[in-house]
Amino acid sequence: MTPAAPDAPATAWAVEPSGPLRGEVRVAGSKNAITKHMVAAVMGSSPSTIHNVPDVGDVGITTEVLQSLGVGVDLDGDTITITPGDEIVPEVPLRYSGLNRIPILLLGPLLHLHQEAFVPVVGGDRIGARPVDFHVDALRAFGAEVTETEDGVRAKVAGRLVGTQITLPYPSVGATETVLLTAALAEGRTVLNNAATEPEIIELALFLQRMGARIELSPGRKFVIDGVEKLHGATTRLEGDRLEAFSYLVAGLVTGGQVRVGGCAQERMVTAISTLQRMGAELDINDDWISANAPDGLRAIAIHTDTHPGFMTDWQSPLFVLMTQAEGMSVLHETVFEDRIRYPAMVVQAMGGEIELFETCLGGPACRFHDSNAVHSAVVRGVSELRGAHVEIPDLRAGFSGVIAAAVATGSSVIEGVHHLERGYNKPLETLQSLGLRVARTASDPATATSTRPGA
Ligand code: EPZ
Repeated sequence: MTPAAPDAPATAWAVEPSGPLRGEVRVAGSKNAITKHMVAAVMGSSPSTIHNVPDVGDVGITTEVLQSLGVGVDLDGDTITITPGDEIVPEVPLRYSGLNRIPILLLGPLLHLHQEAFVPVVGGDRIGARPVDFHVDALRAFGAEVTETEDGVRAKVAGRLVGTQITLPYPSVGATETVLLTAALAEGRTVLNNAATEPEIIELALFLQRMGARIELSPGRKFVIDGVEKLHGATTRLEGDRLEAFSYLVAGLVTGGQVRVGGCAQERMVTAISTLQRMGAELDINDDWISANAPDGLRAIAIHTDTHPGFMTDWQSPLFVLMTQAEGMSVLHETVFEDRIRYPAMVVQAMGGEIELFETCLGGPACRFHDSNAVHSAVVRGVSELRGAHVEIPDLRAGFSGVIAAAVATGSSVIEGVHHLERGYNKPLETLQSLGLRVARTASDPATATSTRPGA
């Protein structure tokens, strides 16, 4: 999928009350794995092939970024082939500034290929400050000279990057990926402590191993990587997207229906499943699919988001909507991104959801935002009657919340900003229609929408 042309007319989605959503969704590979595999493949001496690629905007953005560097990228159905170029340009053009978070991951690979690199300021959902200091500190530990400018990050190295000992201040997904990608071709051994171990990270490590990297995952969030001289191309099939899987299970539950999700293994969904069970949902699980319904209704829950294997932060937004349809007062404590909770909250509030936000740590142990004034806990009253609204969605996951809130609301809704959804969900409009949602594209008119951006 290529990003929409800048002059393409903006569209919104019109959503009508549709009753219970039912049916089956087969999720493709995950957005947060494919783009990282594409970066890893740049370091191979021969082409790599990746199957089960999702049709999401982030793949189109990353394709263009890699092509601008001289890397060949060919998408054929759900298979992508990356052919590393002979003449790599080590500068990501400024026009890719702020589009997604992938360019920062290219620094290590580009330094290996070219001894110098520039990447523009990275983007992604605005869910917190999202600094890149862990990435920069890690690259410096490998021996790179790194300069941060207003436009982006420039790095160079005299000779080869050298393996090192790194302990991340927090198990960051992106910084762990930067270390794995950089250590694979560095000289000598790298030991990474306090690493993220999300399933998408393990997938990346396995792919690098297939490319010839020497990577070991030790107990206690520790990776040991012995750098090799050369990596070769590899072939892999991506595992199913656990965020999409959860989103569609919740879409069924919120509307009193039942969605069966295939393509995402149970082991990637353990905490999501146990959370839905605690809310009273009945789960039917086999080797091919997971299905959830709640014939006796849903009950309130207190939960905090966490790094893997905890309840992941990306699952938080759809859960908000589910909490409005559960009997009693639910508590949600976001501990990964300090500014993430306000976005889905504002979307759901705009539709009549009763949500109160707090700076304190509620519903779980005190987190690292305890002494800040970050609004990162919420109390949600259920059952709230949601009503249709004209809203502008602020980001990807909060956007999905807006759509499923509209599905259960009384009255019509118009959802603006759906490009966020198309960046991260695989054919979301068609998939929701197949489940029975009465949704259609309509002309965009953001000026009359309720903005759900805090402070807006
Ligand atoms: C990845 O973001 C995902 N994005 C996010 O998915 C996901 O929510 C997140 O990991 C957590 O699972 C992609 O993979 C493209 P982090 P990332 O580095 O890598 C702080 C979605 O909806 N931090 O683990 O950016 C940071 O501010 C998206 O698909 C630093 O302080 O997340 C945050 O508080 C949204 N300095 C925490 O660490 C750094 O240099 C975790 O961030 C890096 C991170």
